Amino acid sequence: PMIDRVFNASQQEIKLAHKLGIERAIVVPGDLDRQERVIDLLSEELNSSLDLLLPLGNNIITVLGGSTVAGVAKHLSPKLNRYRELLFVPGRGAVGESVELQSNTVAQVMASQVGGQHKGLYLPENVSSEALRLLIQDANIANAISNIYNSNAVIHGIGRADEMVKRRNLDVIMRSKLREKGAVAECFGYFFDQQGRVIDRIPRIGLQLEDLDKIPHVFAVAAGASKANAIEAYMHHAPKQTWLITDEGASTKVLKGK
Ligand code: F6P
Repeated sequence: PMIDRVFNASQQEIKLAHKLGIERAIVVPGDLDRQERVIDLLSEELNSSLDLLLPLGNNIITVLGGSTVAGVAKHLSPKLNRYRELLFVPGRGAVGESVELQSNTVAQVMASQVGGQHKGLYLPENVSSEALRLLIQDANIANAISNIYNSNAVIHGIGRADEMVKRRNLDVIMRSKLREKGAVAECFGYFFDQQGRVIDRIPRIGLQLEDLDKIPHVFAVAAGASKANAIEAYMHHAPKQTWLITDEGASTKVLKGK
């Protein structure tokens, strides 16, 4: 297709995007599981992709947490803010996991990297649906959430289910359900099995999977062979406009189908 020629995509990238049913895949050399410097390459690709796709002027960028997105945040280029006003907002109010992995922190790091703005959203990670309903009536929270809905780009990671079970304090019942049903991936609070079936979902405030369709640019950053199954599982739900930024370690494994 035209888009592959425009972006000078490699055969591997074309095959990967096709297999995952998304607009574009960018594959950097190496394997993040074994080489830390892969994060620099992922960051470079994220910078060029953002520069290419984001309109000039005002942009609201919703960012999620996790080690990969936190890693690329540190290398975001100030060039991005030259002809743009970038506002970074956290996709969720998570204060459950360690501070440097939280979307609030990532939004703040990105904003200070490029010289843009950021807004916080500080809420507990695991709340009951009842508490959630009350919280979203608060004016500040409602305002933060409206920024998320009006954002024109999202930057998110894709997690392995086993890792995320450990990182979030999930109760015993949830843990055993996820294990029994073969959860392999976690994204936006949803757990998926290898075929992409939703096994469970953590109720939470902020960006929901179904909101993604309305967001013009979606960047998924996930790499390393150990992430291959999680990437594949989640991609059953990814909106078409998704750009996956990944590495050879993950890509080779996804393409092999094992
Ligand atoms: O906590 C936010 C989050 O984006 C999760 O939805 C995702 O599963 C995880 O982080 C990815 O984290 P990592 O890049 O550390 O694997």
